Amino acid sequence: MKILGVETSCDETAVAIVENGTKVISSSLASSLPLHAKSGGIIPEIAAREQTKTIIPVVTEVLGEPPSKQIDAIAVTFGPGLHGSLIVGVEVAKTLSYVWKKPLIPVSHLISHIYATWIENTTPPKFPLIALIVSGGHTELVYMQGHGNYKSLGGTRDDAAGESLDKIARLLRLGYPGGPAIEKAAIQGDSQKFNLPRPLLNSPDYDFSFSGLKTAVTSLVSNIGEENLSDNINNIAASVQAAVVEVLITKAKKASASLPAESIVFGGGVAANKLLREEAGKSLSIPVFFPPINLSVDNGVMVAAAAYFNYKIVPWSKLEPDPSILL
Ligand code: KG4
Ligand code: ZN
Repeated sequence: MKILGVETSCDETAVAIVENGTKVISSSLASSLPLHAKSGGIIPEIAAREQTKTIIPVVTEVLGEPPSKQIDAIAVTFGPGLHGSLIVGVEVAKTLSYVWKKPLIPVSHLISHIYATWIENTTPPKFPLIALIVSGGHTELVYMQGHGNYKSLGGTRDDAAGESLDKIARLLRLGYPGGPAIEKAAIQGDSQKFNLPRPLLNSPDYDFSFSGLKTAVTSLVSNIGEENLSDNINNIAASVQAAVVEVLITKAKKASASLPAESIVFGGGVAANKLLREEAGKSLSIPVFFPPINLSVDNGVMVAAAAYFNYKIVPWSKLEPDPSILL
């Protein structure tokens, strides 16, 4: 079965065709990221306008011109995400479903991040599994007993992990997106230099909180002083990265020790982080799965994969974006 996956939940316009949830037939992506670099964060209106311009060229690139690829169903991210951005993908997917008379499958963005690990993978994760989705908008720990069976264990109470990295990078004038910028600066830094807070590290739940980290870095920056900041940027970046990674790994470890689980899956943009990957490999005692770096960040491939394993059709006339759904 060949599914066309459409993803427009944030700043990407991404479309792909995937066969049987694992084999990539074709894939294309346009990002409005450079347009947001100046502001140090995504401007929703600019993202959505850009997506209305790029969606048809991206779809055309994936299908061929004239369309030459056979499609059995259409999948689309319908939430969570930016409302204006979601509308673009959802309306295009509905139109294709109507015109081609093909089934339409709505997909949660968070669940699609989990399925990035199934792509071109001959030994995919075994159930039951724990999934930690760490993106710009979410930090969500999920327990999964099988395809279609999801239970939220906990999530962020304020800023998501990626959001905190983006905000701190802006504060340090490292650019956008903040995660990769902090990762790069951290290579030259000493993570022991500043002892930053690890909020909710030992709380009895599976919740996260990262807004305090940004507050701590704000006061650190003002104590250091503008004139000494550039000498300390790399050390701050390394200390921030270490704090975020420690919290994520500690909660993942706690879940894997308390619940029956055969594997642990990481997904979302922050899962591209090398320190997180290294620490997960070292600290967790069950098999750990990360998607390839290019499938950790948003893409259309994971949407088509998630739809194959969660094949739930809705009539095109009934589908609306839902910016606040989780799983
Ligand atoms: O999943 P994603 O592409 O979009 C959302 O669903 O939000 O995640 C984007 C987030 C951004 O906050 C970005 O700073 C972060 O992922 N990110 C990283 C890295 N690459 C992207 N964070 C840490 N290390 C990275 N290498
Ligand atoms: Zn995402």
